[in-house]
Amino acid sequence: MVETKVLLVGATGATGSSIIDGLFQAGNFEIFALVRPASMDKPVVEILRQRNVKIREGDLEGPEEVLTEALRGIDVLISSVRESATQQQDQISLANAAKRAGIKRFVPCGFGTITSPGGIMRVRDQKERVYNHVKQLWLPYTIIDIGWWYQIAFPRVPSGKVDYVSFGVAEEIIGGGNVLSALTDMRDIGHYVAKIIVDERTLNRMVFAYNTVITQNQIYNLMEEISGEKLERNYVADETIRDRVAQCRLLAEKDPTDLATLHSQLLAEHRLSWGVRGDNNPDYAKYLGYISSKELYPDFEPVDFRGYLKSVVEGKAKNVYIDDRSVVVEHATALEATR
Ligand SMILES: NC(=O)c1ccc[n+]([C@@H]2O[C@H](COP(=O)([O-])OP(=O)(O)OC[C@H]3O[C@@H](n4cnc5c(N)ncnc54)[C@H](OP(=O)(O)O)[C@@H]3O)[C@@H](O)[C@H]2O)c1
Repeated sequence: MVETKVLLVGATGATGSSIIDGLFQAGNFEIFALVRPASMDKPVVEILRQRNVKIREGDLEGPEEVLTEALRGIDVLISSVRESATQQQDQISLANAAKRAGIKRFVPCGFGTITSPGGIMRVRDQKERVYNHVKQLWLPYTIIDIGWWYQIAFPRVPSGKVDYVSFGVAEEIIGGGNVLSALTDMRDIGHYVAKIIVDERTLNRMVFAYNTVITQNQIYNLMEEISGEKLERNYVADETIRDRVAQCRLLAEKDPTDLATLHSQLLAEHRLSWGVRGDNNPDYAKYLGYISSKELYPDFEPVDFRGYLKSVVEGKAKNVYIDDRSVVVEHATALEATR
């Protein structure tokens, strides 16, 4: 069997780890990872090597020629970089290098919630600039969005028994809490990716890969039922979210380099999109032109949300950013700043 050669940018990250696992389990890929020189000694890179992932050195901020060489012989290029000030736009030179190296399909960083481009979420607009550049290059592509991770969508419980895996970003219920939003277990991302990147139906298309659709009230009800604890429900009016977004945007305009402000903006705009506008659902995705994973892979059995919450309450779930608890602190700090 001829294996598809896949190179992943972001293999040391959270989404990247799921993608590596999914590609491995699928068994029909030769897997490569682009790792920046400064990260070569990270323990996770050694683990990748032990798993027979072929490491190529490169940095999205480095020269395009070096990136082009690192991509030689690769069929599919996938990128999963963080929603930071610059990491998304750094993919512009990655796309140029991909074109030069003759990549057959580029999956630029998506892996987010559904929203419309053009002023709703800054990070979506950053990603769209990359997508537009890819299209201008006439580079074959697939964009994959996945809704919200299960791993950040559940609230704490009064006993503190789920704090060990909590990000603290689901402690507010937006509006009346009845807006439907799509969720995916982050461990399923890689399984979806492994199917999508070898599927001709998804070439030059956007795919919405998601596990379930649920409201915040339903999540709280589930958590109460599974934990046996009564949860406090902290409802936040739509207007408050709009005010927060406006305030964050003003601050970001004054200092576009301040990472704390950018992070607060990201969280506020996320709430605006999925919580107030109700963007993150299959109907809106279909309207925007996405193909649904449910149509493409009706037999795929994703991780069940109730089962996942049960594992959280029983103390059996895993931290997402296992090597990097600073991300949890970053989220919590940004959230405090918007209150
Ligand atoms: N849907 C959701 O609920 C949800 C939640 C979180 C994230 N996401 C999405 O997932 C995407 C990935 O986020 P993540 O949290 O998984 O990322 P992450 O864990 O922060 O990982 C980022 C990866 O990018 C690599 N990287 C950064 N800059 C690079 C450069 N200049 N050159 C080469 N590699 C570079 C990092 O490598 P190093 O090891 O060298 O640092 C790391 O492997 C985000 O864009 C976000 O939209 C979605």
